[in-house]
Amino acid sequence: MRIGRVLVSAEQIQHRLAAMGAEITADYRGKDLLLVAVLKGAFMVMADLSRHIGLPVDMDFMAVSSYGESTRTSGVVRIIKDLDREISGRHVLIVEDIIDSGLTLQYLRRNLEVRRPASLEIAALLLKTGIQMVPVQVRYVGFEIPADFVIGYGLDHLGKYRNLPYVAVMEEGEEGASPLPS
Ligand code: IMP
Ligand code: MG
Repeated sequence: MRIGRVLVSAEQIQHRLAAMGAEITADYRGKDLLLVAVLKGAFMVMADLSRHIGLPVDMDFMAVSSYGESTRTSGVVRIIKDLDREISGRHVLIVEDIIDSGLTLQYLRRNLEVRRPASLEIAALLLKTGIQMVPVQVRYVGFEIPADFVIGYGLDHLGKYRNLPYVAVMEEGEEGASPLPS
């Protein structure tokens, strides 16, 4: 496998995150906002999106994993690291990298809703169009992309490529010599 076509450039990502950050800033002004990023994939989005939010936000992290290392979601989600603090009465915004089947977010939403937050919304950088197996209400979407397997900007293939500053399609073939083609 190797890095294929660039789907969303580093500039496009930053430009869109700035717009999303401005929207979130307007929507949550005067509210106690807690950003919850889903590790590992969402660490890049969390770092960059949060810097575009002009509010004194709080942050927490959850780590989840679907069983196995396949490129397809199994739908079985395991919580590896839970939130550090309680969220009851707080305005929670889940920060996600990508929504594929939607099963991870459906699980997370149900899991967090029973903890009685004041509100619970989702911000995702990428949404694969039309392939969700369950309906997901996403308040803030960065880009809608085709259903290809993508890597970069937090997204991995077998743990690698998360450090690419852009999002690219994963392609069949020999791994290239350069991990960061321009
Ligand atoms: P879902 O449960 O099918 O929506 O998948 C959610 C998780 O699967 C994401 O948070 C990613 O970690 C991972 N994932 C889904 N699609 C891709 C992809 O194209 N590349 C890399 N990871 C992906
Ligand atoms: Mg992942």
